[in-house]
Amino acid sequence: MNKKTVRDLTDAQLRGKRALVRVDFNVPMNESMQVGDDTRIRAALPTIEYLLERGACVILLSHLGRPKGKPNPKYSLEPVARHLATLTKTRVDFVETTDSDEASRAAKELAAGEILVLENTRFLGGEETNDERLSRALACLGDVFVNDAFGAAHRAHASTEGIARHLRPAVAGLLMEKELEYLGAALASPKRPFISILGGAKISGKIDVIEQLLPGVDRLLIGGAMACTFFRAMGLNTGKSLVEEDRVEMAADLLARAGDKLVLPIDAVVASSLNDPMAAKNVAREEITDDQAMFDIGRKSSELFSGQIATAKTVIWNGPMGVFETPPFDQATRAVAEAMANATDTGAITIVGGGDSAAAVAQLGLESRMSHVSTGGGASLEFLEGKELPGVAALEGRSE
Ligand code: 3PG
Repeated sequence: MNKKTVRDLTDAQLRGKRALVRVDFNVPMNESMQVGDDTRIRAALPTIEYLLERGACVILLSHLGRPKGKPNPKYSLEPVARHLATLTKTRVDFVETTDSDEASRAAKELAAGEILVLENTRFLGGEETNDERLSRALACLGDVFVNDAFGAAHRAHASTEGIARHLRPAVAGLLMEKELEYLGAALASPKRPFISILGGAKISGKIDVIEQLLPGVDRLLIGGAMACTFFRAMGLNTGKSLVEEDRVEMAADLLARAGDKLVLPIDAVVASSLNDPMAAKNVAREEITDDQAMFDIGRKSSELFSGQIATAKTVIWNGPMGVFETPPFDQATRAVAEAMANATDTGAITIVGGGDSAAAVAQLGLESRMSHVSTGGGASLEFLEGKELPGVAALEGRSE
């Protein structure tokens, strides 16, 4: 890790100081406006507790949803602050503004050991444009900046990238550190065999990841509807399956370059429509007919992928193998998750990218059996693409 973290801060930098912490509390809310899944809130607790234990007070900044620069009660962080209060022994205050005298006063008056949550940063027009004035104003709220929002680190926003340029020390939190270490080590020095599994609907969203991973992996397993674009490139009939026609040529080129590194499904679970799961059939990939679409990779493919995972020492997975919300099209995603959990038990490093695959692992209750489940969807994808994350780049380097 070439960035400083909270562990590099001295006692004097924390005792009696205001730690301004950017977290990613962009969590799903249910119909009654309660937190639907608190994984991201729990993941930020180690950093919050670390700072409180060292005599700081903690001011939390986060976005929630995409309110497009305007206040919208639907995206208020108030229920999130209330939820946080149930997870800590500490008092949690909430102020319904962020860039205001009220917010600065509340931040100033906060006593050591207390937590203040400010309102959604995306209620502010300058957040997503990374406005200079806003970045400076937010920076004034604290004495030290801690970025623990790995999930938002791919966004160059005022509360992620901007503040770090105006407030020093600017360091990574413990969650940010853990995410970067797991993903970074897997890419830089993986224990071999190193296997990556990619899924999801579209090859277009994953092409940069494929290009980035291909040279370093021992095997790249491809599932999900995106496999169908490869099937088409192989001249197979894909029926009504989702195929990106404008990417077929690219898929053909990848197949030619990748050789046996690229492993595709050999069979498919097909149906005439997603609304007709009772009629689902397992067929060889050569047997998909015009009126069928693939909604999951088949049983033999699941076995093939699970067998590969069992031999691996490092596994990175991003993207479901099928429509896992709709049984029986969840079978292969379940099989991959279970194979990874078993691989962890036998000593492999297993990493699940955020987003849909993390949701699937949580749904299956297998989170604790993975080495690491990322809290970042888009962020982990951009990291795997080899891109520099602006929220990380802006933090203080070890040599500074
Ligand atoms: C996420 O959920 O991936 C992060 O919180 C980022 O959210 P965004 O895609 O709305 O920027």
